[in-house]
Amino acid sequence: MSLEEFHRLPFKPAWKQEYINGCLIESPRWVIVHATIPVSPRPFKSPVPLRPAKAGDEQALLPSFRAAFKDVFEFCDNTQKQFSQSARQSLHHFFHGPFHLALPASRVAIGRPGTLEAGRPIGAALVLAQEEGWALLDMIFVKPTWHRRGLATALAAAALTALHEQGGYRTLVSRYHLGNEPSRAWHHNFGFADEPDLRLAQLHLRAAIHELRRLRESGQLTSQENRRLNRERARWQKEADRLEALVKAGREDEADPWRKWRRKPRDDEMIVLKKPAVPQQKDV
Ligand SMILES: CC(C)(COP(=O)(O)OP(=O)(O)OC[C@H]1O[C@@H](n2cnc3c(N)ncnc32)[C@H](O)[C@@H]1OP(=O)(O)O)[C@@H](O)C(=O)NCCC(=O)NCCS
Repeated sequence: MSLEEFHRLPFKPAWKQEYINGCLIESPRWVIVHATIPVSPRPFKSPVPLRPAKAGDEQALLPSFRAAFKDVFEFCDNTQKQFSQSARQSLHHFFHGPFHLALPASRVAIGRPGTLEAGRPIGAALVLAQEEGWALLDMIFVKPTWHRRGLATALAAAALTALHEQGGYRTLVSRYHLGNEPSRAWHHNFGFADEPDLRLAQLHLRAAIHELRRLRESGQLTSQENRRLNRERARWQKEADRLEALVKAGREDEADPWRKWRRKPRDDEMIVLKKPAVPQQKDV
């Protein structure tokens, strides 16, 4: 591929595109979108029974986690071994992470009695306690055979309702990968709103500018597309300017959701940051 051809490729915000030795190298770009929803009761109708998550679910959820995430963006560059390890670690982290609390509002969907899946988990919405006032939807997943039947919606609605009943939480925060289109569509459909994010606004602005230039130079820019992309460019320019002004005013948290929705370590957690007394392998 020539350099000119490379410059004329469509810009994909979720992918890093590099030109190395005449080749296009694409790798996933790790852009996480934070989305929030107020905690309030939500009526729901589930196609299968739901129950609160329990400690033994760490193992029981592995098959449905593997099936659900097998072809998902965030694991697309994993080897089979890495993926298996990530699946185990993600569930272990939720159930036994040393610095957070798995909330009883977490819900697991169970196969219907009389079917091959009877009693087995087929999906879950797993919620972690974070700061006072907000909780994190750490994971939501459904086995592919159950997709588009309202199961993730029922799981999240049940978790949201239980969180409301538990009290003390105003906001449920979730994070999804920009490249995970089904997750993005699901979050928006459920009612999650993306949080303001300067980095994301700059990325969308770059995409609009790139597409305008690319289509103009290749003679493919229709007047309809021109209007749409100019609207996109103006929208993201305005948002980037607004968020940059907040950063300059010392209000970084409002422009960076990683800062706004971070869990502050408790005093007794600081011990893990201390240098180990015994030298590690690489220090010897
Ligand atoms: C994202 C996920 C949890 C959705 O589960 P689900 O049970 O199929 O979702 P629901 O049936 O409740 O979907 C409700 C609505 O969300 C939207 N939606 C869900 N999946 C979608 C998809 N693949 N493409 C477009 N929109 C989608 C639709 O608006 C859908 O309503 P509709 O089916 O009437 O059009 C599921 O695809 C999944 O497990 N994915 C793999 C794991 C994952 O990526 N989890 C999220 C990590 S942050």
